[in-house]
Order: sequence, then C-alpha cells, then structure tokens
Amino acid sequence: MENEEFRRRAHETVDWMADYLEGVEDYPVRSQAGPGDVLNQLPPSPPEEGEPFDDIMTDLDSIIMPGITHWQHPSFFAYFPANNSPPSVLAEMIVSALSVQCMIWQTSPAATELEERVMEWLRDMLGLPKTFTGVLQDTASTATLCAIVSARERATDHAVNAKGMGVWGDLTAYCSTETHSSIEKGVKIAGLGRENLRKVPVDVDFAMVPGELEKAIQEDLDDGKRPVIAVATIGTTGSTAIDPLREIGEVCKKHGIWLHVDAAHAGTALLLPEYRWMVDGIVMADSFVMNPHKWMLSNLPCSAYFVRDPEALVRTFEIMPEYLRTSEAGVTNYRDWGIQLGRRFNALKLWFVIRSYGVEGLQAIVREHIRLARWIVERIEASEDFEVLAPVPVNLVCFRYHPAGVDDPDEMDRLNQELLEGLNSTGKLYLTHTRLGGVLTLRLVVGQTRVEQGHVERAWELIQRTARQL
Ligand SMILES: Cc1ncc(COP(=O)(O)O)c(C=O)c1O
Repeated sequence: MENEEFRRRAHETVDWMADYLEGVEDYPVRSQAGPGDVLNQLPPSPPEEGEPFDDIMTDLDSIIMPGITHWQHPSFFAYFPANNSPPSVLAEMIVSALSVQCMIWQTSPAATELEERVMEWLRDMLGLPKTFTGVLQDTASTATLCAIVSARERATDHAVNAKGMGVWGDLTAYCSTETHSSIEKGVKIAGLGRENLRKVPVDVDFAMVPGELEKAIQEDLDDGKRPVIAVATIGTTGSTAIDPLREIGEVCKKHGIWLHVDAAHAGTALLLPEYRWMVDGIVMADSFVMNPHKWMLSNLPCSAYFVRDPEALVRTFEIMPEYLRTSEAGVTNYRDWGIQLGRRFNALKLWFVIRSYGVEGLQAIVREHIRLARWIVERIEASEDFEVLAPVPVNLVCFRYHPAGVDDPDEMDRLNQELLEGLNSTGKLYLTHTRLGGVLTLRLVVGQTRVEQGHVERAWELIQRTARQL
C-alpha cells in the first residue's frame, strides 16, 4: 500500500472507529457467535495475491464483528473491564505508526524518559511511596512473574539464576485462596512448583488471615523449606476483597520475605485519596502492580509495576550481549527491568490519557463508577428476592437471586446459572460469575469508560425481569 492510499484508508478507518464507538450499544454485548462460526468462514489457506482493502473491510464487518464481544459497550459489567478511551486509541494509532522498539535508552530516548516521568506521575497520583520506582509491563501476570523471580533471586543470593534450581531445596510462596490464578502460573513458570504455593485461608470477607500466613510460613520453616514471597491482593478477582496489607507486611518483614501487592483492578481506585486506606502499610511492600488497562481508560497492554529496589529487578533480569552494549552512562535500559527484550511504547498512551483527562477528570470517572455500584447495592439490599454476597469496597457487586421459599443450595446455584445465561443471551448486558465460599455468585462490575446511570438502571430492571421469568 502506497502512502497516499494509506492516508485515505487511515481516514476511512478512523471513521470506522468513530462510528463503531458511537454505535457500540447497537451490538449485543457478549458475542452471540457459536464455536466455529468464525473459523468456518475463513479460508483454510492464505491468499496467494494481495487482496483489495475494501474486501478486507467487508469481511471485517461480516465475519469478524459478529464474533466480537464488545468490551467498550457501556453495559459490559463482566470480569474486570479492559477499557479504552478516545485519547488512548489516538495514542495507540501513533504508537503503531512510530512502531519503535523501546528495549534500551538509545533505541528511543524519548520512550525511556517519558516512561520514567509518567511512572513518577502515576506513582504520585496513586499515593504510593516516593521510594517506589515504576516500569510498564504488558500485563499484571508478567509483573507478578517478575516479582516472583526477583524474590527467588534475592532469597538465593542469585544462585538460581547462575546454577538453576537444583542446589536449593523447596522455595515456597504464599497467597490467599482468593488470589488470582496468575500467581499460581508465575510460581509454576519460575520453577518453584505449584505444590510449593500455599493458599492461605480467608476470613468471612474473603480477605487473607495474617495469622494463617504466619502459621503456613512457620510450618514450612520447620520443614526445612525456604519461604521467598507472599502476594497480598488489593481487590481480589472474585469479590475485590482487600487483604490486610499492614499485618501481612509485618509477617513478611519478620521472615525477610518479598511482599508483592496485586492491585490489578482496584488499584485505580487509589486515584481517590479516600480509598488509600486500602494500601495502609504499602511502605512494607517490595513490589506493587496495577493495570491502567483495566479501569484507567488505557488500552491493553498497559500494566504499571512499581518496585522498592529497582536494583533487585536489574540484578535479576540483566543481560549484556555485545550487540546490545551502548556507550551512554547513567541511562535506564528497560530491557533489564523485565522478561521481554522488545517493548512497545506504552508510555505514550498513558501520557495521552493522563494529560487529556487530568487527575481530576480521572478521579471524577472513578468516583462516579463507585457511586453507580453503590446504587445497585442499595437496590439489591432493598429487594426481597436478591442478596449481596460480599462487601463492595469499590465497584464490583457480588450478588445472587434468592427468591422466598428457595433455600436448597443446589437449586439456588441452578437458578442463578440460568439467570446469568438468560441475561447474557439477551445481548443487552454482560455479567460473569464466580464461586464465593462454594456459592455460585453473579458479578457485576460498574467500570466501563462509557457507563452511565441509565445503563445501570436498565441492567437492574432487566435482572429483576429475567429472574421473575425463571
Ligand atoms: C487481581 C488480578 N490480578 C491479576 C490479574 C491478571 O491481569 P493481566 O490480565 O493483566 O495479567 C487479574 C485479571 O483480572 C486480576 O483480577
């Protein structure tokens, strides 16, 4: 494609994008495609010759779009959000046109230095300690893996990096039974072994019990094992439970183990000073992750990883082949701050988003989402047929349908499963579920960039109506 055609197609594509976002509510939120529907329309082999761009766009509309679940639909209440916003999309377009590879300072000084500055901004916006230094990772899963590997290296004086796991006995890690699966995945990849991950019990609010953490660590020490890392979650995936950071921090400090804080979703609420109680004790953490690509209006991938000691990170991940050696002194080379060598220019979109909305603009959006979640909670609490199943510290409402006269747990699970499917198949909203204490629980997250009061009101109306028809 020559540049002139690129220019014309780019303008058309921007129109397509603006039309899409303007009309996103016309689509069913969850794709109504069945397994194989898209695949069966795609030819088994690639075209030998290039095809006209118009044909590609036609197929985008007719084959691909029906198989898209619309995460930018304001009635997307499922999982946790993966939001975009107009400035973030515009930045992504520029990132894509520049296509710079941000592995070292020299390969784009602006990318490195903008990332340094934007991460300082973000740290201060979230009220994190000034002693933290940030780096962008692609996802929270990767950030957590970095924390586990760094903790492993600190605990073994970098011997595992040098000689492999063989010389060390069992290294153990700790999280709660409610912790996100990325911790278990990280523990497997980092070579600690799934059986060396202790899932510490939680209290009635689904938050880790620090006394149980202490007990688990002590048992491992008595068994000759070596505890290396504990993960505290601020906003668990199931119910946004808040693990008690200060007490967990005290236990970690006592045993000299790495404390990683996973605030992938709820970390965005720290933009609001009134939510900083959630990270009381954060100074004791070695690392912290939150995802602007969830609730902070910045396209995926964009995960903010903060560490107390960047040297621990660099010592763990540093590599220095001759072909990457450069002569500048005193510059940051982010290739040594994580797993991958090639890095996208994700800092640009964070910069666009923060500058476009300003701190107050972002705060207003987050505050409104939390208010709307409370609106739903009040309706559920006032209803005779529904119940809230977990505390709602931020914007995730865990609830179920519990009509009078139905008390059999299996029957209630069945009813709620049916309600969920009934709701999602309307295409008018999208909720997901989890199990809390074994109970099938519906999750409704009010966090989509474009969600407003009317969407939440219509959702509540539809939930009641669909439940009555069961
Ligand atoms: C608490 C928590 N941690 C980590 C993750 C994983 O995030 P990512 O997809 O960025 O790896 C999630 C995803 O929802 C999460 O809820």
